[in-house]
Amino acid sequence: MTKKFYITTPLYYVNSQPHIGHAYTTVACDILARYKKSKGVGVHFLTGTDEHGANIEKTAKEAGKDPQQWTDEVAAKFKDLWKILNVEYDDFIRTTEPRHKEVVQKVFAKLLESGDIYKGSYEGNYCYSCEAYIDDKEATKDGKCPFHKKELTPLKEETYFFKLSKYGDKLLKFYQDNPTFLSPKTRSKEIINFVKEGLQDISVSRTKVSWGISVPNDDKHTIYVWFDALENYGSAIGMGEALDGNMENFKKFWPADIHLIGKEIFRFHAIIWPAMLMALGLEMPKKVFAHGWWTAEGEKMSKSMGNFVNPHDLIDKFGLDAFRYFVFREVPFGNDGDFSMTSFKQRYNSDLANDLGNLFSRIINIAGKNLEDKKIEANFDGGFGLTKNLPKISSEYDKYMEDLAFDKALETTWKLISDLNKATATHQPWVMVKEDKEKGVKFLKEVLVCLELVAKQVAPFMPDTATELKKRLATLEKGEPLFPRIQD
Ligand code: ME8
Ligand code: MG
Repeated sequence: MTKKFYITTPLYYVNSQPHIGHAYTTVACDILARYKKSKGVGVHFLTGTDEHGANIEKTAKEAGKDPQQWTDEVAAKFKDLWKILNVEYDDFIRTTEPRHKEVVQKVFAKLLESGDIYKGSYEGNYCYSCEAYIDDKEATKDGKCPFHKKELTPLKEETYFFKLSKYGDKLLKFYQDNPTFLSPKTRSKEIINFVKEGLQDISVSRTKVSWGISVPNDDKHTIYVWFDALENYGSAIGMGEALDGNMENFKKFWPADIHLIGKEIFRFHAIIWPAMLMALGLEMPKKVFAHGWWTAEGEKMSKSMGNFVNPHDLIDKFGLDAFRYFVFREVPFGNDGDFSMTSFKQRYNSDLANDLGNLFSRIINIAGKNLEDKKIEANFDGGFGLTKNLPKISSEYDKYMEDLAFDKALETTWKLISDLNKATATHQPWVMVKEDKEKGVKFLKEVLVCLELVAKQVAPFMPDTATELKKRLATLEKGEPLFPRIQD
């Protein structure tokens, strides 16, 4: 059996249009998925949209649409963007689909029966952007949401609670026994400390929100949007049947190998979701990885500030792969990053137009003119000391990819590119082929072997570019510049 790899993005809210933040997470999953596939692993890549809750209902209303029509339109926009971004997902789940709703109701009923959910009443301050109560401890000094810096709304409601408090010690033990579950390591303390301070039961139903999944046998309540949404990771792959004891389909992909998310929703994924799974008696995901946040030109991205980086514009101007490359090369995965046009252009011109683009076109051009046999010989060593480094480079790259150290994986690849450019400048193959043809040909053949590895290593990041590079290597035809320089 080939190994399996189940990877998920968050389910994006349909109350905003997709922007580079959403694109970032989804492309990151795509990169990992493509990498794993290249290793022969059976990948299942899930993405989708989170479509319930007061916030979405409100946004739809403001747009003069009913919520279902609104969510249909925005979900379609996310799908369009993934297509444009060349994202090869296997399944797209929407929380308004029957296959999801059925599971959510089943889980609720089951936990009610087991006593993990019980009825009570709740009073607190609610953030509509988080769709969550924010307790006083978490709120800012002036009583606002720590994430959105927005006013909180005091609410009191009869509600169902999930017994999160019961799972604190179990979670701590789980984190301890599975030290790579909370990733990256730099963010694990935040979760562990939060759990150590003691978990409160959480409210998992709303009486004031009508746009949601009803609590079974109690229509007055809808299920809290987070409690609903987190279950997508299971509902999409047969968790409903699994709860009836039929594990066959579910076990094909579960447990998830990685839930990839942004840092602001780490707690939901690292605490609540695992506790829900514990309550259901299901296996834990292997890893939750929380990456950092992008700002734009130093500011938080927001529509109202007009600095909302629209991926469509960038792609139209500079091409898809330049975007896919830039965001993963520029910032270590996990850290926060800033998107600025200046640094985008700089990297484009230096890394893509100069380093990668020129190397390929130069070498392929001379090789096309001087090699009689165009077939690249595996591991060809012409004595120039280049191919002998490839196994080491390749294993370094693999290690970085497995660790989601995308910037390092690219750095390793660009180090090879830079060594090849240096060797080309030193040996001047265009002179060599005139003075000592045999030697020149050996040099070119050795560089071509290295370029094959470059094409392979950039493939998860820049799939179209890699296809083109491989085509050019196979025919030794120079072609048009892949990355024409950006002029100011
Ligand atoms: O939170 N920088 O959905 P959401 C980096 N529906 N990543 C960003 C980003 C930025 N500036 N902005 C958004 C939700 N993201 C819930 C999730 S999961 C069961 C439910 C990415 O539409 C990042 O992955 O607010 C973040 O976690 C996600 O989009 C939030 O998307
Ligand atoms: Mg959000």
